[in-house]
Amino acid sequence: MSERTLVLIKPDGVRRALVGEVLSRIERKGLTLVALELRTATTEVAAAHYAEHEGKPFYDGLLEFITGGPLVAAVVEGPRAIAAFRQLAGGTDPVEKAATGSIRGDFGLETQFNLVHGSDSTASAEREIGLWFPSL
Ligand code: PPS
Repeated sequence: MSERTLVLIKPDGVRRALVGEVLSRIERKGLTLVALELRTATTEVAAAHYAEHEGKPFYDGLLEFITGGPLVAAVVEGPRAIAAFRQLAGGTDPVEKAATGSIRGDFGLETQFNLVHGSDSTASAEREIGLWFPSL
């Protein structure tokens, strides 16, 4: 059964010219891009996206970072797309948690600048896709 997930290539990924690399890994995994857009996130969308983290020590910095430059927002589809993209991404901390061979493990050094986001559940995917791509 196919499912959809929301993927962000965060501003650090765009700045470091890793968009092609990330999209290539998504496609080579066998997942399908069903929406793709380069845009700068508004504070409203970013705050709604990370609402569950409001109040955490990293929240203000995370919002500043995610709205600080263009990012790529995408909807990715395929069998077990949520887990499949999280496998491609690797763990949140690019050094301590992400395996070599994952996007974060191969290209990241710091947790804040961890290059990509992928929805963590079907409920999150539905909410996040509605937020970033309301017409889908
Ligand atoms: S938590 O607290 O366990 O729920 O956090 P986690 O799910 O690991 O991460 C939630 C998102 O916040 C980002 N994050 C951070 N940003 C900056 N600094 C620090 N220390 C930090 N810790 C977590 C993390 O990248 C997650 O963003 P997304 O976009 O979901 O990957």
